[in-house]
Amino acid sequence: SKADIGLIGLGVMGANLALNIAEKGFRVAVYNRTTARTRGFVEEAGALAGNIVACETLEALADAIAHPRPIILMVQAGKAVDEQIEALKPLLGAEDIIIDAGNANFRDTRRRMAALEESGPHFIGMGVSGGEEGARHGPSIMVGGKEVAYRRIEPILQAIAARYEGEPCQAWLGPDGAGHFVKTIHNGIEYADMQMIAEIYGILRDGHGLSAHEIAPIFAEWNGGRLNSYLVEITAAVLSADDPETGKPMVDVILDRAGQKGTGRWSAIEAQTLGVPATAIEAAVAARSLSAMKAEREAAERRFGVPAPAAGPAGKEALAILEQALLAGKIVAYAQGFSVMAAASREFGWNLPLGTVARIWRAGCIIRSQFLGEIAAAFDEAPQMENLLSTPAFAPVIETAHPHLRRVVARSAEGGLPVPALSAALAHFDTFRRARGTANLIQAQRDFFGAHGFERVDREGSHHGAWGQAG
Ligand code: 6PG
Repeated sequence: SKADIGLIGLGVMGANLALNIAEKGFRVAVYNRTTARTRGFVEEAGALAGNIVACETLEALADAIAHPRPIILMVQAGKAVDEQIEALKPLLGAEDIIIDAGNANFRDTRRRMAALEESGPHFIGMGVSGGEEGARHGPSIMVGGKEVAYRRIEPILQAIAARYEGEPCQAWLGPDGAGHFVKTIHNGIEYADMQMIAEIYGILRDGHGLSAHEIAPIFAEWNGGRLNSYLVEITAAVLSADDPETGKPMVDVILDRAGQKGTGRWSAIEAQTLGVPATAIEAAVAARSLSAMKAEREAAERRFGVPAPAAGPAGKEALAILEQALLAGKIVAYAQGFSVMAAASREFGWNLPLGTVARIWRAGCIIRSQFLGEIAAAFDEAPQMENLLSTPAFAPVIETAHPHLRRVVARSAEGGLPVPALSAALAHFDTFRRARGTANLIQAQRDFFGAHGFERVDREGSHHGAWGQAG
């Protein structure tokens, strides 16, 4: 019988997604550019091979699927996606559906969708989060595109998605690039979350002088509290692991140079384009860039030195402060990410259901956490809210936690410990909560050197200063 769906690209994510689909009782036709990989995949599929149709050409793939044919692309984001679309176009009809499940830039997704708008096939941009494990056993799935096209694949997505208390973590979020945009912001938040965890790790390691094995149980304990999340959980696991070769803690033999494939950077770029502050995310992206400058950092340490650990023992109280600081930073980062999505939704007319976004992030994805359940609940209470910091659910939490964030940032600054994302979060909070800022001076300067005009506090309209007299 014909397959229910096709899948192109049997890399780690594609292969695991195909196995997930097959396991849920759907027949999946698979194709990979190198045929050896396709054959190997079917051999490794074991009992699931019965639901897999191995195809050695794109023509065979197109023939193997029942109409209208949905085909998932799980190939490298960028040029490869355009090439696959071109190759598939002559083989598909207007009713078929190409689903790009990679980490595409949503602007590419919009372009691709517009290009296929008249001729077809339908195009869907689908964010998939959860890494290898998620793809295999249940990712979080963020769909953008035409709703009619989504409805046709919905049963399969329902079946393969992660579940949170029985609810599948997948949803149609809006037209064109909505799904890939939301995935991009997910990753931006992921960057901020990871960076803030790494900063706390840095304080414990370089400030308190603790070893990886001493830090691991701290995160494990936090995972039992308000910070309960996948990222905190794996941090504890990662810090406990040893390198089989040297017997040292695994993290101690890993080079401190972070990779990045682009989604974090796009989050920061889009936030800037939309005029929304996402400084915790930006700091996290910049921290990865600075991490990559290993040789320069080594030279700088030789030149300037670094302070010795001076924070003293990490007692119960110190740890409680760090835990609260991380929570406060996290709230600001998530608030920024959700504000970027709210602005994009307005800009592109997506009508993004932000409560649903939080809901489908509760399981399956990399940033899954108890915290996202709280965000979902906050949106249930106030569906139109645009700033988490001002909600009845989060305002009291940030109110209790920000003094701790302040202490951690202040002490880190004095001890020479870098906490770029945490301090960006603190600066955001302090700027946000101050009704009278300092942009009056910026406006005065702009008017002074360029006659840009300013608004006055006491009457309407655009005004100029009497700078000549001052000069
Ligand atoms: C996820 C991850 C996933 C992947 C990114 C990370 O949600 O499952 O975000 O998409 O890990 O590629 O991006 P970097 O390579 O830029 O860290």
